[in-house]
Amino acid sequence: MTKAATYEIDVVKSKVSKIATVDFENLVFGRTFTDHMFYCDYVDGKWQQPKIVPYGPMSFEPSARVFHYGQAVFEGMKAYKDDDGRVFLFRPEENHARINKSAARLAIPEFPKEYFFEGLTTLVDLDKEWIQPGKGNSLYIRPFVIATEPAISASPASTYRFMIICSPAKAYYTGGVKVLFAEKYSRSANGGVGFAKAAGNYAAQFYPTALAQNKGFQQIIWTDASTHEYLEEAGTMNIFFRINDTLLTAPTSDRILDGVTRKSVIQLAKDSNVKVEVRPVSVKEIKQAAKDGSLKEIFGAGTAAVISPISAFEHGGDVFELELTNDSYAAFFKEKMLNIQHNLADDPYGWRYEI
Ligand code: COI
Repeated sequence: MTKAATYEIDVVKSKVSKIATVDFENLVFGRTFTDHMFYCDYVDGKWQQPKIVPYGPMSFEPSARVFHYGQAVFEGMKAYKDDDGRVFLFRPEENHARINKSAARLAIPEFPKEYFFEGLTTLVDLDKEWIQPGKGNSLYIRPFVIATEPAISASPASTYRFMIICSPAKAYYTGGVKVLFAEKYSRSANGGVGFAKAAGNYAAQFYPTALAQNKGFQQIIWTDASTHEYLEEAGTMNIFFRINDTLLTAPTSDRILDGVTRKSVIQLAKDSNVKVEVRPVSVKEIKQAAKDGSLKEIFGAGTAAVISPISAFEHGGDVFELELTNDSYAAFFKEKMLNIQHNLADDPYGWRYEI
């Protein structure tokens, strides 16, 4: 799918590109940013003229509400380049819909679709030299909105800034990820903001995740806050379990992010005749399956993480190792997904969006 330009953006190009200084073979996720960024301010009840400017620091008053109350939401998406230099996004309408869903929950005004798409496509086109071809390479795109009003009463802001920044990326995780199943801390609760990409959802995981890391585990698979009996998501990705040949994943809810990679895996699985059960998945059944050998694999699915196999999990002092094999569902769906994203396979779903 290709869309025509619909909106004029003020563009100030960077005088010198930083690209020659970048070691694309040794990128650390989220540390390197392209030459330009997009922004648009919300003032007097409406979104103003969108702009693209050289990437760099911006100034905000210390009283800007985002610093005090975390009124901020974001998205994660990627652009890919094929071997002919054509550039594609993956299901960008989903990210636009979700950032507005997240925004609504945080009392942030919705960002118009035409600004989102025009900003995104103009920015990615301007910085397309930063996208390396080849599977495993991408441009990670981070749209986000922050409350900028300089006021510290605890109420929604009257001014906001919507921005998009871009970062060339390789793998988020390398090798298998070791996880803990949450037993004490919680990520989200009924009626809360777990479904939203609210900045605070991620900050709230840093402390328990650091405790897990001290024990040798990289991530936590969060369980439901009321009983800790059901497995929900890992903070950077949704989670799938394979018992024998059936895939299980938790249903989305107001506690769980409606991941674009998650829904794409479910679609690909159904179309590959892999049985998928979208239903609550209990800690008990996964431990039992690990003991009796029917648990074949666990993998995470997310934009940054793509599809990342889990190599071990811990719960209640029991540690279970999972063998990582090349004929896994994780490897199969990752390959299918990357082939669509990099224009190496047919896209019967219309997921690719050419820039
Ligand atoms: C993404 O996958 O895009 C995310 O937002 C996860 C992020 C914490 C890196």
